[in-house]
Amino acid sequence: MHNNTIAPTPSLSNPILVRLAAAMADTYALCLKTQGYHWNVEGRTFYQLHTLFEVQYKEMIDAVDELAERIRALGGYAPSTFAMMRHMTSVEMDERILSSAQMVEHLVKAHTTVCESLRHALGMAREVNDPVSEDLLVERLRVHETQRWMLESLLQDSPSRADLPETVD
Ligand SMILES: [Fe+2]
Repeated sequence: MHNNTIAPTPSLSNPILVRLAAAMADTYALCLKTQGYHWNVEGRTFYQLHTLFEVQYKEMIDAVDELAERIRALGGYAPSTFAMMRHMTSVEMDERILSSAQMVEHLVKAHTTVCESLRHALGMAREVNDPVSEDLLVERLRVHETQRWMLESLLQDSPSRADLPETVD
């Protein structure tokens, strides 16, 4: 029978639910962080970053939904309050407005944190023989590694032609 209390966090007796909930909270925190940067970025690279951040946070909104629904399909309850998300995430949130370069650096770090969280969840999915969660987590890992690469590339100086490797004709 249902009552009016808030949904409990996933049962600690089911480790895959705990790992999926952590991955979901980490994705949610990174989504919010990225959307905040989309709003608040300034400087000469404004349009480039404003647009990139929008593409990335919108992708993560759908991912959070997928992770939450996987938790439900396994019989757990998805975290659904700011307090739960904050408690479960390892992603650090900012207390002040950052420069555009700092934003990119912080996102690279946050994507690395999310990738670590996803790898933990992936290991657990393999341990409990849950190929559906495994499939979802591999896809999330692929996306975050790609997003991290794109952001890291923004921090690199482009090499001069003399530094580039020889191409084979
Ligand atoms: Fe917008």
